[in-house]
This record gives sequence, structure tokens and C-alpha cells, in this order.
Amino acid sequence: MFWPKFTADKINKTVTEALSKNVNYRNSSILGLPATFLDSDVFYDDAPFLENAPFLSTLIANPNHIGCHTLVGAEKIFKGTQALELDLIKLCAEQIFRGDEDAQDGYIASGGTEANIEALWIYRNYFVEEFGAKMNEIGVIYSEDSHYSFSKGINLLNIESLVAKVNPENRAIDLEALNLQIDAAQSNGIKYFIIIMNMSTTMFGSVDDIDEVTRLITAKNINFKLHVDGAFGGFIYPFTNQKSAFTFQNKHISSITIDAHKMLQTPYGTGIFLVRKGLMKYVKTSEAQYVPGTDHTLCGSRSGANAVAVWMVLHTHGSAGWTAKMQMLNDKTTDICCQLDQLGIHYYRNPFINIIAIHAEEIPEKVAKKYFLVADSYEHQPKWWKIVMMPHITRGAIDSFIIDLKAEMVLAKK
Ligand SMILES: Cc1ncc(COP(=O)(O)O)c(C=O)c1O
Repeated sequence: MFWPKFTADKINKTVTEALSKNVNYRNSSILGLPATFLDSDVFYDDAPFLENAPFLSTLIANPNHIGCHTLVGAEKIFKGTQALELDLIKLCAEQIFRGDEDAQDGYIASGGTEANIEALWIYRNYFVEEFGAKMNEIGVIYSEDSHYSFSKGINLLNIESLVAKVNPENRAIDLEALNLQIDAAQSNGIKYFIIIMNMSTTMFGSVDDIDEVTRLITAKNINFKLHVDGAFGGFIYPFTNQKSAFTFQNKHISSITIDAHKMLQTPYGTGIFLVRKGLMKYVKTSEAQYVPGTDHTLCGSRSGANAVAVWMVLHTHGSAGWTAKMQMLNDKTTDICCQLDQLGIHYYRNPFINIIAIHAEEIPEKVAKKYFLVADSYEHQPKWWKIVMMPHITRGAIDSFIIDLKAEMVLAKK
């Protein structure tokens, strides 16, 4: 995995040059677009600080990245900043997820939810167009720990939900139960399967065993497409686990969601959808005739500034810097686990992910709430509270948490 680190000056010059290649609302005669620069009474473009603020300059110039630019013939009015989006999609697909050169499409989506639904949408239409599938013949298999975006997508797309059970302690998909579940689904008329593999679940940070699951489903000879939800883990797991099986070299994987607005610390609106070439066509909206290349995304219009932000963060760190940063976060997570071990507190943690899920009965609610731990449910009695080790968490905050935890445990014993 390699991509270069650039200086702030090089980043500024590259983005400024990209903006200069866009058609500019201020100095071009753009008569046909329902769009313009941001309101100049509020977002004035002659603020001196903008000279060294490429992301804000792009926000104010307001390029629209509508459509999917890895496809031939896509909208090119904002070709300068769109080229930066192409660059970062290629970087993610080929460097982080080891795809073959120019073998993947992708775009910056509004978030992980959209990218996951885009995947379901593509595969539903693929089964319909290629095999004449009916909606009730398409089933989505996803673990009970999966993100709720899959429930949303299944509901919107009117396809069937097949929730796989996990082991309550190690959060691994129960393969025996899955085997029986697929048999039962087939008896109930499901002929086509969309398999979701989590490259870290939201609550536990658990990573599905893709090799075991694909061994099972290929042995059963079912017709399937497989999507990886790396919305949480996408920018950490490939950097902490050099042996990750979640790459495009794994022939079973057709698409991957990663969210820059989680671990990469970019602004909201920077989900990333990556998919093998040849599949985006199943969600081509031909009715989008006024958009050159039409539209293959779920969201339609989207800000080019989001792509610029992701590109800037990736190149500010370079692959070596980003790897070091993620390993450091992971080490800090391990430090907390060591301290919990010393206190005899039980938790679930995948060693390559920065999430610790603690059994609710082992942590006083008062401490969990004081430190804004997140519960697995706010409608029922929580079973788990999670810590997510993010860059803002200082060693001092960790120490205070452990001190409070110890004090509460002593009080509870009295
Ligand atoms: C594993 C996983 N998938 C999908 C999502 C949805 O992402 P977003 O909130 O960006 O739509 C999340 C969000 O936490 C997530 O953790």
C-alpha cells in the first residue's frame, strides 16, 4: 500500500489548480445550471484567509459532483475537482483495497447509509435484470450486529431480510445456524442472495469471518453477490491488520462501503462507495437526461468540496503517516483493555479495531454516562456500553475514566 504525503503548499496549489479547471460561476457565462456560488453576503470569496484554505475555497465555489465520474461520459463542468475525486476513489480502491488498476468504480456518497443502500440497489436490479428475479426471491443475509442502514435499504427496495445470529460472546456469525437459515430461505422461495460482511460492526467493532462465510455459501452453490460494510472500519482495519481478507483480490467481494467522515476525520457527507466495474450500470437512471452521463448514484447533487476534503486528508498524511496514526489509536485502545483486565471487567474487542464493548452490568451507569459511552439500546435496558477510541481522546481522559471506574467499583462493594 502506498500513496504519497504532500506538503500543505502542494495541497493548496493542487486544489487551487483543480478549481481553476472547473467552470467558474464568477467569470463564465453559465446560463443553464440551477446552481451558483454560495450566497456572497454570507460566504464572501475575498476573505483573506481563503488563500490558504483550499477546502473552504471549494465550498464557496460550490462545484456539483453529480453523477459517477469513474464512468465514461460523466458530467465534466467541474472537471478539475472531479479529477481529485477520481484520484481518491482510485487510491482507496487500488491502494487501500488492493483492486486491480482501473477495475473499480465509485463515488463520494452522503454517508455509509447511502453507500450500503446503493449496494443493495445494484444487486437487487442485477438479479432482476439478469435472472428475472421477483422481489420476494431476493434475500439479504446480514448479521444481527449489522448497521440499521440495511434494514432501511431492504424496506425501501422491498426485498427480504435474513438476519444471521451471532455468538453472544465472540460476536461471530453462527455458521451452523446460517447454513440452516439458507436452506429454510430456499424452501421459502429465496433464490438470490445479497451477502453483507461487516469490516467492523458499529456497536462491537466485530469483523465477520468472510473466509468462513464464503466457504459455506460457495459450497451451497447459491447465486449471490457480496458487499462489505467498512463504514466504520474502512480507514482503520486495513492499516492495523496487514493480513486483512477484505480486499478486491478476494474475488467474492463486489463492493465496499467506507466512511471518510468517521476515522478519516473529514466533514459529514463523505461516505465512499467502491464497486467492481460493470455493476454501476444496474442503477443507471436513464431518466436523468439533463445530466451528461445520466446518474448512477442515490443522492444526485453533491458538493465537490467533500471530495476535496477527503483528498486533502489522505495526502496530508500519506500511507505511512495514516498507518502510524491508526496503529497508535489501536494501541491506545489496547491500553484501555489492559486496564479493564486488571479491574476484572469483561468486554468484547477485535484486536484490530478501536472499539471496546463492555457488558452493561460490569460498568456503573453513572460512569458510562459521565464519559458519554454509547449504549446498544436507548429503548430497552442496555446490555452493552461502548468506548470508541477516537483522536480527541487524551491519555488524561482515559486515566480519569479508569479512576472513576475504580472508585465506583469500591463503593459498590461496600
Ligand atoms: C458499520 C456502519 N455502517 C454504516 C453506518 C452508517 O453510516 P452513516 O451514519 O454515515 O450513514 C455506520 C454508522 O455508524 C456504521 O457504523
